[in-house]
Amino acid sequence: MIKVVVDTISPVRNAVELGAYSGAFSALLSHLCTGVVVGVDNAPQDLTAATRLATSRLKFCTANSSSPGTATYVMELIGEPLDFLFIDAGHRYDEVKSDYDLWSKLVRPGGLIAFHDIDPNHVQWSPCDVHKFWPEVKGKRRWEFIATEEHAAYIGPAPGYGGIGIVEV
Ligand SMILES: C[S@@+](CC[C@H](N)C(=O)[O-])C[C@H]1O[C@@H](n2cnc3c(N)ncnc32)[C@H](O)[C@@H]1O
Repeated sequence: MIKVVVDTISPVRNAVELGAYSGAFSALLSHLCTGVVVGVDNAPQDLTAATRLATSRLKFCTANSSSPGTATYVMELIGEPLDFLFIDAGHRYDEVKSDYDLWSKLVRPGGLIAFHDIDPNHVQWSPCDVHKFWPEVKGKRRWEFIATEEHAAYIGPAPGYGGIGIVEV
């Protein structure tokens, strides 16, 4: 996914991660981007390590990603249309659709939107419907990465784990 982002958008100015969890990926994004990165999560884990590893341009926002007020607040922090949006918060169909409907219009033409867990065989404790929404997402270009047996050695449990879909707006 990172290779697609840097190959498609250069320089990457800003990014938003919906579902920041422990903030590790947001921290990585803060090194990739030249501007502000925001990680949104309504119930984040301990963000201490991620904050230590990130640049000072990373902000965390504890809020519901599906709330329009969250989007308004985050866009004020960033101050310009989004280059890269990573959707990885609620995984039920309505949650993914709601995040996409709210945030996709904030991504600039030529920007990228990525979805985690598009693999229909993705195994997780709570239900995951991302694979049901992913085929509905249209874009100028599409990339799809599904882990196979050959990836198991370096990404852990595969196949049947994760999967990333990316569209260009
Ligand atoms: C699968 S984890 C995200 C993992 C993270 N993106 C990563 O790559 O390490 C999903 C996260 O989404 C958060 N989440 C679920 N529903 C949410 C919502 N409506 N608004 C904000 N965050 C939400 C959860 O608290 C959880 O931390």
